[in-house]
Amino acid sequence: RTTENQLLVIFGASGDLTARKLVPALYKLYQEKHLPEHFAVLGVARSFMTDEQFRKRVALESKHIKDSDEFIAQFSEKLFYQDLGDSYDVSYMELNERLQDLNTAYQTDNNFIFYLSTPPSLFEPIAKNLTAQGLNDEREGWKRLIIEKPFGYSLDTAQSLNNDLHRYFKEKQIYRIDHYLGKETVQNILVTRFANSIFEPLWNRSYIHHVEITNAESDGVESRGGYYDKSGALRDMFQSHLLQLVALIVMEPPLSADPEEIRNEKLKALKSLRLMTDPEVLEQNTIRGQYLASEIDGERVNGYREEEDVDPDSTTETYAAVKFYVDNWRWADVPFYVRTAKRMPTKVTEVVIHFKSPHHQIFKNSNINKDNKLVIRIQPDEGILVKFGVKVPGQGFKVERGNLDFYYSSLGDTHIMEAYERLLLDAMQGDATLYARADEVEAAWRFTDPILEYWKEGNARIYGYSAGVWGPEHADELIEGKGQWRNPGA
Ligand code: BG6
Repeated sequence: RTTENQLLVIFGASGDLTARKLVPALYKLYQEKHLPEHFAVLGVARSFMTDEQFRKRVALESKHIKDSDEFIAQFSEKLFYQDLGDSYDVSYMELNERLQDLNTAYQTDNNFIFYLSTPPSLFEPIAKNLTAQGLNDEREGWKRLIIEKPFGYSLDTAQSLNNDLHRYFKEKQIYRIDHYLGKETVQNILVTRFANSIFEPLWNRSYIHHVEITNAESDGVESRGGYYDKSGALRDMFQSHLLQLVALIVMEPPLSADPEEIRNEKLKALKSLRLMTDPEVLEQNTIRGQYLASEIDGERVNGYREEEDVDPDSTTETYAAVKFYVDNWRWADVPFYVRTAKRMPTKVTEVVIHFKSPHHQIFKNSNINKDNKLVIRIQPDEGILVKFGVKVPGQGFKVERGNLDFYYSSLGDTHIMEAYERLLLDAMQGDATLYARADEVEAAWRFTDPILEYWKEGNARIYGYSAGVWGPEHADELIEGKGQWRNPGA
């Protein structure tokens, strides 16, 4: 694939994401020679900064880069900045002029990407203002819009955001980021399933007992209390990243690796999740929790309600666990258990496929803990682990668990692209495979909405858990009868 000459405009350029993720990702692409010959970045935000101040702000120098100062400077010279001021219409005219100047100076062929890393309330006004300047028009050069999360706050808001954006840009111009799709190990789910003949024949209700997905973070909400308190774990992680993982596990084989084929199958998967609307069902199948103050390694850590910008009476969840079913031919009656939380003992994301016991037990000392498992380690220690029974040497047939373990790190020096690197490069090349389509995002909200509604009404209890443990004890009951949560590293 080729990367055509282009200009990348980042809205919200004074924010954290630009300095922490986007500019370092672009630098890496530059280092690896993935950027086109003619390329420039224009950072845009409300506050005033010179180009030089912007270059300092993203501070590549401090990022432990080993390249020469000259090489880093060559890259930095491609970075520019434009303030939008407060009066939108006037400043968009200036913005357009600046864009045209840079486009001429850097020969970027009228190919523009607009990356919206702003609060969601600005997505629509920005798209509208760009359109007023003719910057959605693809007669000369292409125009693409990348939208950061959160994409909506509910099904309604996601639908109206989609409608708003579609008024100005065509769906094929819109790239909705879900950075989990940029992770190598997440993409590898497709390869594991569809480039091997040893897993897919077993990938169904006849052989799979249940599926478990854990996403744990050891950090609390840090400085993002203001955002997080209005969002919570279900919106922040489950509706987006985790349901994308579910879609990749659940989907049928696509006809080809074509973006639309893959996204069509993911959409079907998300539509097949059984909606939970009955309060009793919601009560039995969802659990929410909130971390309490506690001591970790002799140091006191704040409870969620004590965090900066968090309401002291907040009932926002920092832990969410959901059990659900997938109503289709392949998955009927196979329970899925998905949990996500902050302030867990460790940072880890993994998918575990628990296989059924052999239907006839010859070796009497086998038990459910010895059943086959396929563990897809999304992060850290990226890799894949197959657990299977082996004979313990000696008399009789004692069965123990053996491991077949693949680590990505064993591939040697291959550079594993960071999620943002991969996603930026894909958008630069016009490949939307790893971006969420409008209908996918809406299907994920359709499933999440009734849970949020039920929780909002204050029906569901919110369980406290000490920071540094695997969530509320009550969550064990959710999975009981099917085994227990696999707590990685515990
Ligand atoms: C973000 C969430 O989308 O993903 C954060 O808003 C979360 O709350 C982060 O910490 C987790 O991403 P990763 O790549 O560190 O697992």
